[in-house]
Amino acid sequence: MSDLGHNSANADYPGFFLTVEGGEGAGKTTSIEFISTWLKERNIDFIQTREPGGTPFAERIRELLLAPGDEKVADMTELLLMFAARAQHIESVIKPALAAGKLVLSDRFTDASFAYQGAGRGLSLKALSTLESLVQGELRPDMTLLLDLPVEVGMARASGRGELDRIEQEKTDFFVRVRQGYLARADDEPQRFEIVDASQSIENVQVAIAEVLGKRVNHG
Ligand SMILES: Nc1ncnc2c1ncn2[C@@H]1O[C@H](COP(=O)(O)OP(=O)(O)OP(=O)(O)O)[C@@H](O)[C@H]1O
Ligand SMILES: [Mg+2]
Repeated sequence: MSDLGHNSANADYPGFFLTVEGGEGAGKTTSIEFISTWLKERNIDFIQTREPGGTPFAERIRELLLAPGDEKVADMTELLLMFAARAQHIESVIKPALAAGKLVLSDRFTDASFAYQGAGRGLSLKALSTLESLVQGELRPDMTLLLDLPVEVGMARASGRGELDRIEQEKTDFFVRVRQGYLARADDEPQRFEIVDASQSIENVQVAIAEVLGKRVNHG
């Protein structure tokens, strides 16, 4: 089994857990396509997944979470559903892939809960940390790519996409808190995070991503 540069405490999961985070329209999906090409070119065995979701059951929870509706969804309900979906995703997809030595590339993970449900909704970060430990044990991403950009720029990019989901319908100040939440999290764990200025052109964002991947992911 090749060593991809795994740095988490848990030796049971020798793969490499790479998460991509950022606000609406930051370029996560675009960057994940680029990363997946980068990995294929280097014959790195990987799976691509996303949150909330990533398994059929967790995707059903995603639909519940994102569907707009008349009933106000309580913040705590939203948080617990996020972690319920995550528990399923971890047990049935992430852990088996990491145990097999694969790289797991996920569009969002727990940092999104800290940013959206914590900083955005105002739920206690202590409660979030408790859930994180409960659901994940020792499992943490080996590297998190944070695509950071001003909220207006991201919203303008995302606005071309038609109907907004329930969370996307929040106001600008919510997304400003989300951005601050992500940056605070990166500040707390600088060894795990790589922040890329996502307001740059796609080409320059990709140059920056290739540089951090080259540095962080062992590719033979
Ligand atoms: N660096 C960039 N410069 C200009 N446009 C970009 C850049 N990166 C992505 N885009 C465009 O912005 C839009 C949103 O990008 P993308 O879907 O990758 O963002 P996202 O972070 O996945 O959004 P969401 O949070 O809604 O899933 C797309 O139309 C994409 O082509
Ligand atoms: Mg996306």
